[in-house]
Amino acid sequence: MNRASALGQSPAESATAGGEFARDLRRGFAARPRSISPKWFYDDEGSRLFDRICDLPEYYPTRTEMGILRAHAGDMARLVGPRAEIVEFGAGSCDKVRVLLDALDAPQRFRPIDISAGHLAQAAAALRRDYPGLDVQPLAADYTRRLLLPAPEAGVRRVGFFPGSTLGNFSPAEALRFLRSAAQVLRGGGLLLGVDLIKDPAVLHAAYNDTQGVTAAFNLNLLARANREAGCDFDLDAFAHSAFYNAPQQRIEMHLVSRRRQDLQVCGQPHRMEEGETLHTENSRKFTVDSLRRLAQQAGLQPGPVWLDKHHWFSVHWLGAPA
Ligand code: AVI
Repeated sequence: MNRASALGQSPAESATAGGEFARDLRRGFAARPRSISPKWFYDDEGSRLFDRICDLPEYYPTRTEMGILRAHAGDMARLVGPRAEIVEFGAGSCDKVRVLLDALDAPQRFRPIDISAGHLAQAAAALRRDYPGLDVQPLAADYTRRLLLPAPEAGVRRVGFFPGSTLGNFSPAEALRFLRSAAQVLRGGGLLLGVDLIKDPAVLHAAYNDTQGVTAAFNLNLLARANREAGCDFDLDAFAHSAFYNAPQQRIEMHLVSRRRQDLQVCGQPHRMEEGETLHTENSRKFTVDSLRRLAQQAGLQPGPVWLDKHHWFSVHWLGAPA
């Protein structure tokens, strides 16, 4: 299957996405420091690699959050209330929401939103099969852009679900903008938000430098994708994965480091990278319970109960969205 049909896109749509990617690559390589949005990790191959990351022994966030959801789904379901419409931002394979759906009282509708259309269609089909009474309405979209969703019917409360600490991949300004727009879309309901917490840097370091090299492959897939979709010809062997905890900024940074001096053509523009120079590909911000609650308040949400695991490595927050 070619990439356009795998993504459920027409060739014209695929060309538009490729154009936007090429624009971001050009801008990212021209900027100092060089950087590009982590949203470009998630083509079908990147989504597959990310699913593998979630199962790695070192990558604690997924199983820790899953443990919190399993332990407290009943409390969460009581806050959500009966006949809810659940909107999941960046739904991926929709595994975590099943724990919530199983605990909810007669959920009406599930709207998973994800940029990776192929991945989303598969996940939606599996949910329809397993939850026959649930109206599953997937939306292949960039949920960081303004979302227009039809208003839920009278008596149906809309609640957002944003697990996985993806909020940490946004810049502080983007995170605030996203939470403000979620407060609008979810008004009268609330948001269940999972975020990773500040902890021993050794634990963080191991999570982003796994011994099997899956995170490295995920990082390098960005260049492989640029070769596939944006007409680039990066030599993947000329770049190395780098991930480290930047303590003052309270974030993991991922970079692709040039292993040698190299002259590149990036979407028609010439660039030189010296040995050791990097393309910054991702920030993964870590929070404290209080810093997250302050951010939510700034966005117009009302912090409520918070659930943690026994090590206090991860947190799930109920944030009310005023009507
Ligand atoms: C999706 N996101 C929350 C992951 C994270 O931990 O920041 C992406 C990731 N990058 C490397 N490993 C996982």
